[in-house]
Amino acid sequence: MSELKGYLVHNFMSEDFLFKKLKEKSDLDALRGLRLQGEQADYFSNDYLGIVKNGLIEKHLGHHHYAHGSTGSRLLAGNYAKIEETEHEIAGFHKAPAALIFNSGYDANFGLLACIAQRGDLILYDKLSHASIRDGVRQSFANSSSFAHNHLNELELKLKNRPVSDSGNCFVVTESVFSMDGDRAPLSEMADLCDRYDAHFIVDEAHATGFAGEQGEGCVQSSGLSNRCFARIHTFGKALGCHGAAILGSYALRQFLINFCRPFIYSTAISPASVAAIGASYKIFPNMNQERAILKNLISLFDYPCFNKSDTPIQCFIAPGNEKVKKISESLFNNNLDVRPILYPTVPLDKERLRITLHSFNSVDETKLLVENLLKTVEN
Ligand SMILES: Cc1ncc(COP(=O)(O)O)c(C=O)c1O
Repeated sequence: MSELKGYLVHNFMSEDFLFKKLKEKSDLDALRGLRLQGEQADYFSNDYLGIVKNGLIEKHLGHHHYAHGSTGSRLLAGNYAKIEETEHEIAGFHKAPAALIFNSGYDANFGLLACIAQRGDLILYDKLSHASIRDGVRQSFANSSSFAHNHLNELELKLKNRPVSDSGNCFVVTESVFSMDGDRAPLSEMADLCDRYDAHFIVDEAHATGFAGEQGEGCVQSSGLSNRCFARIHTFGKALGCHGAAILGSYALRQFLINFCRPFIYSTAISPASVAAIGASYKIFPNMNQERAILKNLISLFDYPCFNKSDTPIQCFIAPGNEKVKKISESLFNNNLDVRPILYPTVPLDKERLRITLHSFNSVDETKLLVENLLKTVEN
């Protein structure tokens, strides 16, 4: 309640409805607030390879300057040679026929899922899918159903027993590396099911891009599944240290999105400066093998039962209860370790957790200290 004091001071009668909803959140101990980054060791940003921390994009671009405004949507004034060249390069790197750049991963997932399936189609998606996927599914005219996290049998049952009313196209959606748990989807088995039941496979590679695969190309490509995916979403705001995303797929898919995807059509295009940064990152991250090796070593320090089994830079420590998980985060903060709590309802009740993200710039000593601190909370 004390977190709401500021709101009380400025509480105009006409805004009572805002206060009521905020109080509900506060009563759940789940009121969100913005916090500035301090001097503490970073175990919460998605800058896995340290591209932002080390200013690598700025160093790569040097004295080249690019415009910060794009002056319109892609279909009007906002299309330019650099954005098309960069799409071409991204498609080439990921060995896809075509790529289309979006302003964010949220826009890409939301826009794709909202427009791709029609009435009579069916979307099946992993229950732990990111909000951008779920929001897009909700916006779609197609019916949808979630399957239990990474549960192949349940997915197969849902594919096998499709109601006649949903007998149009079927889309299966997952993340290659899950944003909250850091575990991976069984992509190869899912692709087999999609082939067997004639479904279109869509994979969000947000947390795999830059990390997974020999050159950070992602899980789909490194598992040889590129040709079996209908669409892949690569976001640029995480390991790539930029902003934006690309949807990879066929030329027909690209053309379809240009015509039907509302966040693409009705929004000002990403600026040349942002596109230059994305292009620079695609020159930088494929060569960051040393950073990927450092990350793998840090990940190995989390081999204890209290952490979920994850071989990615996202580790998670479940501490049920919003109050409890916030307390542990505060105590780590006082020990110079910044790990952010993820609260209910962002994650299911009793699955509140510390989401620990590892970076190539985290030292072994500070990471060991973090693990020791968390192990102590289990003993107590
Ligand atoms: C799995 C996943 N997909 C998509 C997104 C959205 O990407 P962006 O931050 O570029 O909007 C995120 C980011 O939180 C994510 O974790």
